[in-house]
Amino acid sequence: MPRMVRLTSLAPHKIEAKDIPEGKALFVCTCGLSQTLPWCDGSHKAARVHEQPGSLYIYDHARRAIVEQRPDAELPAP
Ligand code: FES
Repeated sequence: MPRMVRLTSLAPHKIEAKDIPEGKALFVCTCGLSQTLPWCDGSHKAARVHEQPGSLYIYDHARRAIVEQRPDAELPAP
């Protein structure tokens, strides 16, 4: 489901080689709700439970709680 989150960073997050554990898989957040961006922290699991198809979700500043739910305006087919 689509969601809107307010991101205020003006710079990239640099990933140093020392931050990458050897032989371990890395999971980068693609849902936008992680508290440890750019890494996935499991926050996407709550989205699976609380979000339904056909709606657009707006989260609070902390990206923890849904503050608004709107009908999803579907994009036209490419
Ligand atoms: S994909 Fe965003 S917290 Fe897991």
